[in-house]
Amino acid sequence: MSDASNDIRQAQTNLFLRLETFELQLSALYKQYAVLFPDIHDLWHEMAEEEEEHAKWVHIMIGLLEDGHHFYNLDVIKVDMLAKKIGLIEEKRVEAQQGHVTQKDAILTALSLEASVIESEVYQNIKSDAPTLPYITEKLVRETRKHNDQINQALRHLKQK
Ligand SMILES: [Fe+2]
Repeated sequence: MSDASNDIRQAQTNLFLRLETFELQLSALYKQYAVLFPDIHDLWHEMAEEEEEHAKWVHIMIGLLEDGHHFYNLDVIKVDMLAKKIGLIEEKRVEAQQGHVTQKDAILTALSLEASVIESEVYQNIKSDAPTLPYITEKLVRETRKHNDQINQALRHLKQK
């Protein structure tokens, strides 16, 4: 393998590792929200588990890269933006740990994070020669949209109270 293609592979691996961190951090945030807001504990808990699954799927993509599959279009994932989001999630998690968050704040934070994944179309844009990739990315897209809907529903419910 040429040095150039090794560099590309390394950069792509780093990108996926960051995406994996993003999903794991999101899971940790939702777990914290589950503790803080027992009346919608199950929603936060279920979403936390699914985010953990998302991290596993991203990790599988790293495995596909290692197996020699090629990935395209990864420049749609903005590394700086991802790093910023990861930092933001960490801040929000610390705030939640200290109990300085209302349920509405938590819902709005989650909504904006899920919406940012949908709007940036990260998972829609990742392409590969690996035959299993569409299954993975479709699942990630579907569940991110589902989270968005579920959180929106929780927000509507909160407003009706
Ligand atoms: Fe996710």
